[in-house]
Amino acid sequence: AIPVIAIDGPSASGKGTVAALVAKELGFHYLDSGAIYRVTALAAQRAGIALDDENALAELAGKLDVSFDNGEIWLDGTQVGEAVRTEESGNAASKIASLPRLRAALLAFQRSFRKAPGLVADGRDMGSVVFPDATLKIFLTASAEVRAERRYKQLMEKGMRANLSQILQDLQQRDARDSARSVAPLQKCADASLLDTDTLTIAAAVNEVLRRYQA
Ligand code: CDP
Repeated sequence: AIPVIAIDGPSASGKGTVAALVAKELGFHYLDSGAIYRVTALAAQRAGIALDDENALAELAGKLDVSFDNGEIWLDGTQVGEAVRTEESGNAASKIASLPRLRAALLAFQRSFRKAPGLVADGRDMGSVVFPDATLKIFLTASAEVRAERRYKQLMEKGMRANLSQILQDLQQRDARDSARSVAPLQKCADASLLDTDTLTIAAAVNEVLRRYQA
């Protein structure tokens, strides 16, 4: 089977950055599954679909015209840019992500990213639901305070306005919602190995994932 490295974890844990770098290092494809939820929420907003209308959202997700190209996301033939990177967009994504039929409608699309020579996928349920036979499963985490600081820096670097205590509060709210939902809740699956990055640099975390993959 084509190898998959599944990297799951809470919001702003650094899993996206680490996953993309691991993919680059190995020459693997990269799937940012959170971006799929974010862009689905954006498509819903554009189509005037309420974020709790499960049937309409599942139908929309089933015929989504989305593609990824070098970190850029295309929706219906146009680049979405930073519109899916805001905290608002993350919250909208988290809302629709609690709907089982919507999640089911996105499964095949996510699995289509598994192509030779391999895939690194990051999200919440890469190891538990989307790629249960993944070669390596990592649960990448960090304390809420460290994650809030990372997200704050990330937004500042992009020139976006940010407030640290607001970010921490949003993050904890989103973690709570992601953990409490009935489908694909945010949790470490039994066969995933834990990677706590509180005191690790990005480079050290990348090396640790590579070490576990090659072990
Ligand atoms: O890194 P951050 O949590 O800010 O964002 P993300 O990974 O882009 O995910 C945004 C939201 O999508 C999360 O809060 C989850 O609710 C949802 N999500 C999910 O349910 N399953 C995934 N595989 C990926 C994201």
